[in-house]
Formats: sequence, C-alpha cells, structure tokens
Amino acid sequence: MKGKLFFKDEKAKKIFDKVFDYNTLLILHELASKGWFDCILHVVSTGKEAHVFKAQDINAKPRAVKIYKIETSEFKNMIKYIEGDIRFKHVRRDKRHIVFTWTKKEYKNLDIAKKAGANVPMPLAYRDNVLVMEFIGDENAAPLLKDVNLNNEELEKAYWDVIDSVAKMLFKAKFVHADISEYNMLYWKGKVYLIDIGQGVLLSHPHAKEFLERDLRNISKFFSKRGLKKDLEDVKRDLKEKKKEIQL
Ligand SMILES: Nc1ncnc2c1ncn2[C@@H]1O[C@H](COP(=O)(O)OP(=O)(O)O)[C@@H](O)[C@H]1O
Ligand SMILES: [Mg+2]
Repeated sequence: MKGKLFFKDEKAKKIFDKVFDYNTLLILHELASKGWFDCILHVVSTGKEAHVFKAQDINAKPRAVKIYKIETSEFKNMIKYIEGDIRFKHVRRDKRHIVFTWTKKEYKNLDIAKKAGANVPMPLAYRDNVLVMEFIGDENAAPLLKDVNLNNEELEKAYWDVIDSVAKMLFKAKFVHADISEYNMLYWKGKVYLIDIGQGVLLSHPHAKEFLERDLRNISKFFSKRGLKKDLEDVKRDLKEKKKEIQL
C-alpha cells in the first residue's frame, strides 16, 4: 500500500483526514491499487450523506468518487428504500451495513439504468461505502440543470431527455429513480444526466408507484417553473408516448 493518499489538492486532503475512518482509507487504497483511479484531484461536493471527489486514473481519465459517510447518513430513511426491493432482502440493522448496502444499491441502480439506455454516469466499481463512476464534466463537474440558462428549444430538448431516461428505466428495466429533482440532474454537452440514484427501486417495490408519481411531479414542477408548461398529466402522457419509441 502506498503511504500517501495521492492528493493533488490540500483541501481534499483536509476533508479526508477529518471525515474518513480508517476503513474508508483502506478501501480507497484498494480501489486505487486495482486501477479504478490513481489520484484524487479535488472536492466536487460535500453533502450530509456523501462527499464527491474528482479523481483521475493513470491515463488522466476523470472519475467521480462518491464516498458515503457512515456517521451522518440517514440510515433510517435508507431502510425504506432497501426493504421491499427483492435484490436486497437481508439487510442487517446496523448503520455500517446499511450504508454499504446503499452504496452497492447505487452501483447496481446505475448499472441497470445504464443498460436500459438511460443517461446516467457509467458505474465503474464499488466497495463498502465508496463508489467510483464516470465523471460528468471536464475540468469541473457539469452544472446542475437548474443552474443553466436554456432557450425554449434547449429546455424542451432537456425535458424530452429526462422523459426518455425515465421511460427507458421504467419500461425496459422496470425501475424507478425515486429521487428525481432539480438537484439531481446535471446538464452536459446539451444532454441531461440523472444522478444520485441510490434511492431507486424496482417496480415490484411496494411503494414504487408512489415514488414514480413523486418523480413525475418533480419533473412537471421544474420544467413548468422554467416556462415549459407541463402538468402531471402531460408528463404521464409524454411518458406513454415515449414508450412507443422504445425497443422493449
Ligand atoms: N458522476 C458525476 N460526475 C460529476 N459530478 C458529479 C457526479 N456525481 C455527483 N456529482 C456532483 O456531486 C454532487 C452531489 O452528488 P449526489 O450524487 O447528488 O450526492 P448527494 O446529493 O447525496 O450529496 C452533484 O450535485 C454533482 O455536482
Ligand atoms: Mg443529490
């Protein structure tokens, strides 16, 4: 194991020293030694539940490294989205195990969403509370859709991008994102990427329909606020229209 944690940035190093436990550091070394990344470049986001860092691999390819915090995670809330999902039947009641299951769930969710053709970051690796995925952006992370100025045409295209991704997840993968909001959509090179997909559940989850309805309501709210008038019924109709175009 290398002695240093390959930091190019002091701020990133400080956050690491303060917030990550020994096991997390070991896991990062392990993922790095497997080649998933070579060095951590800078902090992208520090949230209550997770920190996201930009990293790069040995060929300078950018990576996003999302590290869930064990202490401050809302693990009680997480249980609701884990139980009832047939993929994760046996979740123990301890915090660490719940957060590890959540990380694995985000990886698996990205994987099924990506395979269905939805616009999400490509998942690369996970272990315990650390997830490595494709980095959306260039020097810095792509902006949130809500922070980008779009003309009418671009806004409409962005809307249909979101509908396309939701339809593919729903009709092809029988999967619901369950946390779509203006905070979880990135805009990059004219395309919308859905991120933060750990909450996502299979359609067989007892509350999947309710989560889907909430996602669609959030889509309607966001785009209507920006001037593209789409009420919930419009969004549902557009989703059905999209279904016809999708190769099931
Ligand atoms: N794959 C990615 N590529 C680029 N930036 C990302 C990526 N994943 C997350 N981010 C950035 O990190 C922020 C937080 O990530 P997110 O997954 O929404 O975690 P949370 O909301 O739980 O803190 C995002 O708003 C975005 O700026
Ligand atoms: Mg988020």
